Amino acid sequence: VLLGEPVVLYRRSDGTPVALEDRCCHRRAPLSRGRVEGDDLRCGYHGFLYEPSGAVVWVPGTDRIPSSARVRSYPVVEKHGYVWIWMGDAALADEGEVPDFHWNTAPGWTSGGALLPMKCNYMLVVDNLLDLSHPPFLHANSIGSADDTNPELTWERGERFVRGVRIARDIAPTPRLRKMGVKSNIDTDKVMTYLPAGNVVLEITQTIRAPGDGPGAYHSFILNAMTPETESSCHYFWRNCRDYEIGNAELTKFLCGATATAFEEDKAMLEHQQAAIDLDPEAPEVNIKGDLGSIQARRLLQSLLSAEAPPARAAA
Ligand code: FES
Ligand SMILES: [Fe+2]
Repeated sequence: VLLGEPVVLYRRSDGTPVALEDRCCHRRAPLSRGRVEGDDLRCGYHGFLYEPSGAVVWVPGTDRIPSSARVRSYPVVEKHGYVWIWMGDAALADEGEVPDFHWNTAPGWTSGGALLPMKCNYMLVVDNLLDLSHPPFLHANSIGSADDTNPELTWERGERFVRGVRIARDIAPTPRLRKMGVKSNIDTDKVMTYLPAGNVVLEITQTIRAPGDGPGAYHSFILNAMTPETESSCHYFWRNCRDYEIGNAELTKFLCGATATAFEEDKAMLEHQQAAIDLDPEAPEVNIKGDLGSIQARRLLQSLLSAEAPPARAAA
């Protein structure tokens, strides 16, 4: 389920992806319970056969196929190791709006990641990734540095992005770095880029202050694609990409395991946060200086939504 709509994804015989409404036009059975036949998809209930356009090309017992026999077909494109779907007006689909996630597949980089189902609105995950004041507390046993509470933080808003630069100097190594043998303090530089609607690119550089204590600098991009499922749930696709020791599969396993552990900590908190919000959605919130990025991100998203929606819906 994406944006409240059932979607089935499959591949044509040449490997290119297809996305159709996952609800047969006959008796509304999910097409994802059916089977792929060449480039087409057959409903597993009474056998209606759909082509990638969403049109039905075969029904049982008659040559007469009703003209209304079709489901919605969504534009999709495969890029940077992901399949991107456009669920708005198909005529407005623009491949140029796919976020730059090239580190996921670029030469000289290696990556690992997972899909985390989240029972929270996707923007709570965006807030979480833009407000990195939380790791010293929520990730105290994984990727947080206890004294990383007073960084230098600047924000920039572009037409289609919000970007923050967060610099912390001479802070304690994180528990993850300690596990990797690092004992001395570190410097960290984090660049958080929000790309609407639900994507955040994190570039993280950790520099070990004492020469010889560990490999010097750790440089990675965490690509986060939060795809709404419903108003209060999302699919959180993440990848951890790095450009050092790229042939080291053990290291990939270790780093992805550590990232997964941290994101499970986020998941638990965000799902409880969503539950608390649901009890009283109008309950007030207090904003502080560190919230500037997530406030800007929500404003940017709102302005894009207003520009796209018909006037009555924009007002709603
Ligand atoms: S429900 Fe799909 S063919 Fe009948
Ligand atoms: Fe987190």
